Amino acid sequence: MQELLKFSALRRYTKALSVALHERDPYTRFHCERVINLATEIGIACELSDRELVLLGVGASFHDVGKIGIPDSVLLKPGKLDADEWEIMKTHSERGERIVRATMLADAPAVASIIRHHHEHVDGSGYPDGLSGDGIPLLSRILSIADSYDAMATVRAYHRPRGHEEVVAMIRAEVNTKFDPKVFERFAEVIAKSPSRTQ
Ligand SMILES: [Fe+2]
Repeated sequence: MQELLKFSALRRYTKALSVALHERDPYTRFHCERVINLATEIGIACELSDRELVLLGVGASFHDVGKIGIPDSVLLKPGKLDADEWEIMKTHSERGERIVRATMLADAPAVASIIRHHHEHVDGSGYPDGLSGDGIPLLSRILSIADSYDAMATVRAYHRPRGHEEVVAMIRAEVNTKFDPKVFERFAEVIAKSPSRTQ
């Protein structure tokens, strides 16, 4: 019971934060919902514990909340970002971590860590810390694949819509550089029959 109360407080705080971000960038709302569902499905296939699944769901629900701190000229830019703008955009994972920690809730550090590392790559080329392989928290490696699948499958201003097979092939091409091979295997099993699968 205590455990449930703890999680419901964390969910309430993070829900409010997500709604605040969605006010600024409506795209993130539907993106977040799809990422939560897909990340949870992959998490179940990875045999995560119930607690880990809750942490993953909360982390997924506002993995990009740090974008609240990104100026509109960068966040809402219709075209591709230039190098300086990209550096500003990359700060969203650390900003998100700080926002979660500021809730002071018991599980905030665990969720904050998932968010900080959701753009790390297994070859060490990601950000913010350049972590590699199993040094990246497992829940962040799961979130990374779910986030990328949905972002690639969604129509954005800077790329045309892509079909399911094309997106999976693009993700497969980055296994062992960007994505974890073990998590990719679970993802490939799950996405074939997932409601989150695009056409
Ligand atoms: Fe992100």
